[in-house]
Amino acid sequence: MKPIRLLLAWIVSIAAVSAADTSPRERISFNNGWRFTKDDPLAVGEALNYERIKDWVLPTGDELLNYKHPAQRVRRPDGNPAGDVTYTRAAFDDSKWRSLDLPHDWGIEGPFQQNLDGETGKLPWFGTAWYRKKFDVPASDAGRNVYLEIDGAMSYAMVWINGQFVGGWPYGYSSWRVDLTPHLKPGAENVVAIRLDNPRESSRWYPGGGIYRNVWLLKTSPIQVAQWGVFVTTPTITRDAASVDVGVTLDNKTAARAEVKVGVKLFAADAYGKPVGDAVVSGEERQVRVEPARQANVSHTLRVASPKLWGLKERNRYVAETTVSHEGKVVDRVLTPFGIRSIEHTADDGFLLNGERVQLYGVCNHHDLGALGAAINTRALERQLEILREMGGNAIRTSHNPPAPELLELCDRMGFLVMDEPFDCWAMGKKRDDYGRVFHDWHEKDLRAMMRRDRNHPSVIQWSIGNEVREQFEPDGWKLAAHLAAIVREEDSSRPVVGGFNNIQSGFNGFQRVVDVVGYNYKPSEYAPLRKRHPHVMQMGAETASTLSTRGEYFFPISDDKLEGRSDFQMSSHDLSAARWAHTPDTEWRGLDENPFVMGEFVWTGFDYLGEPTPYNADATNLMNYANPVDRERAAKELAELGKILVPSRSSYFGIIDIAGFPKDRYYLYQARWRPELKMAYILPHWNWPDRVGEITPVFVYSSGDEAELFLNGKSQGRRKRGALEYRFRWNEVKYEPGELKVVVYKNGAVWAENVKRTTGAAAKLTLTPDRATLRADGQDLSFVTVTVADKDGLMIPRAKNALKFTLTGPGEILATDNGDPTSFESFQSPERKAFNGLALVIVRTKAGEAGAITLKATGEGLAPAEVALKSE
Ligand code: GAL
Repeated sequence: MKPIRLLLAWIVSIAAVSAADTSPRERISFNNGWRFTKDDPLAVGEALNYERIKDWVLPTGDELLNYKHPAQRVRRPDGNPAGDVTYTRAAFDDSKWRSLDLPHDWGIEGPFQQNLDGETGKLPWFGTAWYRKKFDVPASDAGRNVYLEIDGAMSYAMVWINGQFVGGWPYGYSSWRVDLTPHLKPGAENVVAIRLDNPRESSRWYPGGGIYRNVWLLKTSPIQVAQWGVFVTTPTITRDAASVDVGVTLDNKTAARAEVKVGVKLFAADAYGKPVGDAVVSGEERQVRVEPARQANVSHTLRVASPKLWGLKERNRYVAETTVSHEGKVVDRVLTPFGIRSIEHTADDGFLLNGERVQLYGVCNHHDLGALGAAINTRALERQLEILREMGGNAIRTSHNPPAPELLELCDRMGFLVMDEPFDCWAMGKKRDDYGRVFHDWHEKDLRAMMRRDRNHPSVIQWSIGNEVREQFEPDGWKLAAHLAAIVREEDSSRPVVGGFNNIQSGFNGFQRVVDVVGYNYKPSEYAPLRKRHPHVMQMGAETASTLSTRGEYFFPISDDKLEGRSDFQMSSHDLSAARWAHTPDTEWRGLDENPFVMGEFVWTGFDYLGEPTPYNADATNLMNYANPVDRERAAKELAELGKILVPSRSSYFGIIDIAGFPKDRYYLYQARWRPELKMAYILPHWNWPDRVGEITPVFVYSSGDEAELFLNGKSQGRRKRGALEYRFRWNEVKYEPGELKVVVYKNGAVWAENVKRTTGAAAKLTLTPDRATLRADGQDLSFVTVTVADKDGLMIPRAKNALKFTLTGPGEILATDNGDPTSFESFQSPERKAFNGLALVIVRTKAGEAGAITLKATGEGLAPAEVALKSE
């Protein structure tokens, strides 16, 4: 029996590796073993200024620009810019520099500084820094091409290999690569040096600083599939069959003409986009000629019978395996996961996925991961999506920049729709030194780079060309919009062009004509007038709400004036407050419900983020830095209102979920609407108001039911119906007395859900609740542990702010702590932290290759300590 079983296993394993592992292409993580230092070496002066080196930087990624006309490529000038700067040199002794692994964000390490802008998080993310890494290149790599691939480096990166400048990239959110081949030394040690430079006045939010995304070393044959060189589309889809077009771009990096053969096979994919089983269909090999130092294109059309569609519930995917052969040898093989799904944006009936209307329940998110800063961690992103999915969210706008590639992979796998967005500004910047400075030279490359990288993700349903750009206010602004839209359509005609617009000039300023879908930011009252005048224009709420709240804070008396609800640099959590230009969720929903042709919305924001602590962001420093006089004036007004103070606030109040990942009350308001089938009811505020006995303390209930009765200590406070265009139950006259609030909710007359809120006892103990207790020992995996200050019965103490301490034993580390308070200036790396309104968060990370039991302990004065066991395996 045994030999047969072995043989079988061997056959199975051959089949399983048929796709990936035999490729001559190798993509190796290049994250580990870097040296880092902040600032430039002394007295280099202007030698490293981008403007001085620009001519050498500009040719980087040029094939994205002139891929059709390679003869127009710009040549890198001779010479070696800054080659005499010590840090660039191979022989430089960097042994005194700090050693670290990527991804890395130096800004999040702090410390917070009160004199820094609240708008960018009061963290020192700006300035210059260097990264160096030594690595061995085997002699067998001679004759291969070796690229350094960077998913994102903030910002103005410049790269030297063995002392020789090889390129760079200004925009911190783009993915890009440089070719190390010409200066690489196979069979020897090599040194790569990277300089970053973050201009201080370059962002409206916390951008982070550093090589904050993953970095790879890519090794290929000189005849190869080009960067992001496979594009899969599915032009026709029926129940019986889908046609799948696989377009392939090849690079010939040799000095000789090459006759190559390109074959394509399609496989079903597992949940992670990896091929499984035998090919479902194979295309015939195509012959193609590639001239030396040129590119060539070839395409295959294949037919998949009875296709399994990608959708939000079932996320079926396929993988295209592209094989390139030259002179009888396989020289490259690339796997491209994709999905078969149809999308349709309409003017009359919203957005359709696979022929069925899907309302966009979307959120805008910035890229930072709270206490982890900008440094990408896949599990942290996955957790964000899990929290959003539980709320009923189904879409993400990558506001306002290309995301980490891992986010799109997660959206494919977990079933989210994506609005992929390249820019927050065009040529007319919003801050003195923002992207506007390089827009002219770089926008086309950045836009094409984003699209080529992201175009095979079924989750991506539309391409944005930018957010609230200042060009909207210019009579000729639409021309630039038309230029960008043309680039998008040239790259991909299968998805529409959209933008986030806030200047509507009575419904038309020319932008509406050049995009496919108008994304309105905070304009629920404009949906109907625009439709009346231009019935064929498709519309969505690209940015909605900007409602403001702090988890667990409530101010009285409550007011329906959206500019109220402010106190002590916090925002009341009654969900009635919003930014001056913005709305409560209720107002946005009225706009959507009265105009059902609108595709849905992207709420500002899913999660709180570092920076932009509106309405408390009018620092004096901040005020002067708006490029635009209108913004300067608005900021001046805010500053006058607040008085000339530095605002003690470092993160936003917009999130439905706080920066630590704890849902605010609003989470349940959205859940009630976005998951109408879920039997849920949620009461606010908490019921610990010893200072309010006998005073009016309104109670709200968020529920998917349509009728509700509230009881205080058993006494009915009235049974209410939720009318059309009403989204919450309110009892405005409740007089506080300690005890129990209970709501019974009905739907269509039958009991639907109940919820209770009780006055708690005194703080007595801590509890620890990990989101996951079994982790991978890969040095990346995280457990997010919620720390609760509770009474003896385990009820969370809603106003607890106890000082807490955490210790850990076993193969893990406390990576960060947080509590969701936008005014906390405790270090995110500190193992000590105050609870905020009953909660704190500890983020535990495993150690690579070290399995075992991890114990996390929490202590706080006067509280029974708590302990939780985690396992790393
Ligand atoms: C919008 C802008 C966002 C954010 C938001 C805050 O106008 O597009 O980036 O600033 O306001 O309300």
